Amino acid sequence: AQKDELHQIALKIVADGKGILAADESTGTIGKRLAAINLENNETNRQKYRQLLFTTPSLAEHISGVILYEETFHQSTDKGEKFVDLLVKQGIVPGIKLDLGVVPLAGTIGEGTTQGLDKLAERAAAFKKGGCGFAKWRCVLNIGTHTPSHLGMLENANVLARYATICQANGLVPIVEPEVLCDGEHDLARAQKVTEQVLAFVYKALADHHVYLEGTLLKPNMVTPGQSSSSKSSHEDIGLATVTALRRGVPAAVPGI
Ligand SMILES: *[C@@H]1O[C@H](CO)[C@@H](O)[C@H](O)[C@H]1NC(C)=O
Repeated sequence: AQKDELHQIALKIVADGKGILAADESTGTIGKRLAAINLENNETNRQKYRQLLFTTPSLAEHISGVILYEETFHQSTDKGEKFVDLLVKQGIVPGIKLDLGVVPLAGTIGEGTTQGLDKLAERAAAFKKGGCGFAKWRCVLNIGTHTPSHLGMLENANVLARYATICQANGLVPIVEPEVLCDGEHDLARAQKVTEQVLAFVYKALADHHVYLEGTLLKPNMVTPGQSSSSKSSHEDIGLATVTALRRGVPAAVPGI
């Protein structure tokens, strides 16, 4: 029953013609949006901004899921309805960003891993109880002369797998996000190769940790040349490199990307 529920949530999120609204900017990041319109970054203004998004007429015609930041999960509309309940009422699946950010991975050349596993089961259970159906956790890998290292790929894949099993045990569909960053001077072929390797590490770890793939989603990166690369690629080449990497690296059982 748990597997079936996870699969149904995943399918609902990737319904044809619909997408996810990522409203999980951290308190620091949302400040940039508010500063652009001369508003103070305080809780009232953050609530008003999120309320504006979630009360958009006919939102559910286009949006199947909304990723929330922890503060927003606890907030309500001016009329006192919890944002989570407002979304559920519209047939939209609320989700929650569970990771607690990237920290340095000791012993590597500038690589990182993502923290947030401590007490994750308790947090996941509480968000599920509060109405969430899915979660997000972001890992980052950077392309350099000596990176991503074997250790970097192994550790990030492992932490994504730990997060994914804990989510599934608590009824949340994990969005698995191994993001290969676009910073760097590498070309398109290198970005494709690294993305393929990273996906291979991730799905090996998910298999090792007994993750139920039909109850997961993948948030990958586009495969592009590095932002400082001198070689430019056409949209067609970028599209083909991205789809090729995904076809090679993502098991067919994964219901959506
Ligand atoms: C937040 O800032 C607005 C001005 O942009 C102000 O009206 C409001 O009182 C502030 N709220 C809090 C809780 O500080």
